[in-house]
Amino acid sequence: MSHDLISVLYRSVAKLKEHTHAETELLLNARTKNQLLGITGFLHREEDLFFQVLEGPRETIDAVIERIALDTRHEKLEFLDRRSILTRAFEAWSMGYSNSGDGSLFDWSSQNGIPLNGRDHEGVLSFLQLRSMALNTGSSTAT
Ligand SMILES: Cc1cc2nc3c(=O)[nH]c(=O)nc-3n(C[C@H](O)[C@H](O)[C@H](O)COP(=O)(O)O)c2cc1C
Repeated sequence: MSHDLISVLYRSVAKLKEHTHAETELLLNARTKNQLLGITGFLHREEDLFFQVLEGPRETIDAVIERIALDTRHEKLEFLDRRSILTRAFEAWSMGYSNSGDGSLFDWSSQNGIPLNGRDHEGVLSFLQLRSMALNTGSSTAT
């Protein structure tokens, strides 16, 4: 079994309503599973869109992504980035979470002139990292 670390980023359209028990349950289950599997990452909800980055051993990530892709609680899943990594960017989070009330991806992108549709979607990854750091420090603004 390979211990190569990879990171995968995707976007999907949520079918779950925001701020609901069902959404909280999804997140808590994901955190429990990820902790057992050695997966870290971050989920951001921007209105009806989910942006999720997952990082961990290649085979583990591929298996979980396969299940996530079949999950009917979201649709129109589109992979934005996949890369090998040497170190984790979301080490502190079995699955961090933010929504546009905490900080809007689209506002951040337009205010800072950072495109979200680049080849590797570096802008989205940077935003998710900023959100995770804001959670770490208890700050609610991503600038
Ligand atoms: C937006 C979204 C994000 C998810 N993130 C994770 C995750 O990070 N880890 C995970 O194990 N399951 C995640 N899930 C849930 C999986 O799709 C699946 O329900 C879960 O892994 C349980 O699968 P199982 O019942 O086949 O074991 C996510 C689902 C959705 C809709």
